[in-house]
Amino acid sequence: MTVDKHPQRDAEKLKAEIKRLKEERGAVILGHYYTEGDVQEIADFIGDSLALAQVAKKLEAPVVVMCGVHFMGETVKILCPEKTVLVPDLEAGCSLADSCPADEFEAFIKEHPGHTVISYVNTTARVKALTDIVVTSSNAKKVVDSLPQDEKIIFGPDRNLGDYINRCTGREMVVWNGACHVHEQFSVEKLVELKKQHPQAKVLAHPECKKPILLLADKVGSTAALLNYAKESDAKEFIVVTESGILHQMRKDCPEKVFIPAPPEDSTCACNNCSYMKLNTLEKIRDCLRDLKPQIEVDADIIDRARKPIERMLELSK
Ligand code: 13P
Ligand code: SF4
Repeated sequence: MTVDKHPQRDAEKLKAEIKRLKEERGAVILGHYYTEGDVQEIADFIGDSLALAQVAKKLEAPVVVMCGVHFMGETVKILCPEKTVLVPDLEAGCSLADSCPADEFEAFIKEHPGHTVISYVNTTARVKALTDIVVTSSNAKKVVDSLPQDEKIIFGPDRNLGDYINRCTGREMVVWNGACHVHEQFSVEKLVELKKQHPQAKVLAHPECKKPILLLADKVGSTAALLNYAKESDAKEFIVVTESGILHQMRKDCPEKVFIPAPPEDSTCACNNCSYMKLNTLEKIRDCLRDLKPQIEVDADIIDRARKPIERMLELSK
């Protein structure tokens, strides 16, 4: 086995190769805030899942590398079927999307006739094809508010986000029982302890967290909303209750402020990682640009059906 004696130099070499290959391929690299810092640094655009979908729709590049998870690559492919959509690692899935198999969701919809189906973007293309309107954590409330108060709604798959939107809007949406293994892991006891140690700190939480966590938060929002809150707030300290990748951008944008990751329940680790997001490495980005694979493939009829609810979301988010 060769021992890597110069990780920094190797990273710089990989970044130079990525830059060269990207130009050769006419490619654009999109990255989610949960990826590693060095991946965020080489991305042409980083954002939350709504922003990534909005950017994808406007891209002219023939090749897009989606550094995130599989459903994010599918969203790009659905919006831009003519493009080559690469993901550095096809194994980068999402436990929340996995918690909602399309055939079971279809049966659930049939059990609730007359309901409008709202699905979180963290779903497979097949689930989106069964959906009336897609939402992200950025726009879920806005989309739900746009519907008549008496409209019957199914919300899937995240039970925490669905329950949170029910609380915010006074609705009684029927919520699918799915969750993200990363966000459900945060410990209320450890958060309470951190708040005692940092009484001035504001608590920033993603709505995929459980209700007791959200009740302790000063701001609940998407990754982009939490970042903006941190930038605009007068506070100097923040406890961040979401995947730890977002800390990179928070620390970069607000070097004078202190960001403290909230810890998960069953670990000695100080922060909480999405192992799927961390599958995006510089090496794999270089390889996918070099080999033009792995590519995201979605059946044409699924693309047709899944595009409408995503377009509807983009329309409602303007
Ligand atoms: P955002 O919509 O906030 O980017 O979140 C995506 C996600 O996967 C959260 O776990
Ligand atoms: Fe999916 Fe959770 Fe990872 Fe987000 S953090 S991509 S919801 S597994």
